[in-house]
Amino acid sequence: MKAKNVLIFGCTGQIGRSIVRKLTKDNYSVTAVTRNIHQKGIILKTLGNAGFINIVEANIFDEKKIRELFKNADICINLVGILYEQKRGNTFKNIHTIFPSILAKLSKQYNLKHFIHLSALGINDAVDSNYAKSKLEGENEILKNFPLATILRPSVVYSVEDNFSTSFMTLLSRLPFFPLYYSGKTKFAPIHCSDLTDIIYHVISNNIYSKIIECIGPEIITFKEIIQRLLKLIDKKRILINFPLPLANISARFFELMPYPLITRDQIRILKYDNISSGKYKTNSDIGVPSKRYFNDEIKKYCYMWKEGGQFSTERYKYNQDLENKTN
Ligand SMILES: NC(=O)c1ccc[n+]([C@@H]2O[C@H](COP(=O)([O-])OP(=O)(O)OC[C@H]3O[C@@H](n4cnc5c(N)ncnc54)[C@H](OP(=O)(O)O)[C@@H]3O)[C@@H](O)[C@H]2O)c1
Repeated sequence: MKAKNVLIFGCTGQIGRSIVRKLTKDNYSVTAVTRNIHQKGIILKTLGNAGFINIVEANIFDEKKIRELFKNADICINLVGILYEQKRGNTFKNIHTIFPSILAKLSKQYNLKHFIHLSALGINDAVDSNYAKSKLEGENEILKNFPLATILRPSVVYSVEDNFSTSFMTLLSRLPFFPLYYSGKTKFAPIHCSDLTDIIYHVISNNIYSKIIECIGPEIITFKEIIQRLLKLIDKKRILINFPLPLANISARFFELMPYPLITRDQIRILKYDNISSGKYKTNSDIGVPSKRYFNDEIKKYCYMWKEGGQFSTERYKYNQDLENKTN
């Protein structure tokens, strides 16, 4: 019988929303766990038809409550992750190492068919980053406690719902210049969120137990090229400045004082390392799900909101300019 009950942690994020939409459309029943049902319930409720989503509010360390949820689950997906640490327990160690380890133990205890965990690409190399170290330790804990788990390591993930392309386009629209760390030479293999959720879906529906899979997009692009492409897509010209590392670290120290830092020193350390396939693990192409979506083609679908004129800058409205002239 097909495993149908999927328990998801971190489903209100970019990747979570996309996978919940995909799973519920194919009649999977999803239990979506969030920290704040009042704030996030409205997002979750609209992701699937009534009856296919059960929303649960829980602190991820409330083991008694979490344990109850495992009793009815066939599959568990962990998408909880943070980019910077905050006070009161929101540390890399708690979120990326201890929490996944608890999930892996519970998956074993309740005989789950699968546990899928989202890690990150390049964490073996980024030895001086606390984010990378905690993700790597989390992976080790998972494989120790539930060897059947599948760990997905994506490069940077983008979509209209991301905090990456959309934030950069906002910054590029507002700033007269843009800083490049390490001269913008760091390489990425950006993967579209739908391509990534196709991989998660494939792993679930084909019972793939592959330990670690690197998830990459179809192109390798440097950081500088990403910024240049975004500038071209939003039709803007900006000065790109090679930011010296000491200055970058001083500014990051300042940003870290803010509730949502633009960049942290730990992120600057990660940026030193290429974020592309290592060649040591299987990739999404190896398991039969190559990425189909190209960066420029996808960004083009939503970048118009950062262009002068917003939606009126699109071909459709340019064509209607005649109409506007007539009515004036
Ligand atoms: N996006 C990327 O480019 C990228 C690249 C590589 C790896 N990844 C990994 O993929 C996973 C999902 O990424 P995403 O981009 O979808 O993340 P996201 O949009 O930032 O969402 C993160 C999710 O984690 C939950 N969360 C955050 N802090 C939490 C905390 N302290 N306690 C409990 N839950 C918390 C949030 O759930 P609630 O607020 O509803 O509780 C949210 O749904 C993460 O593990 C991330 O590290 C992402």
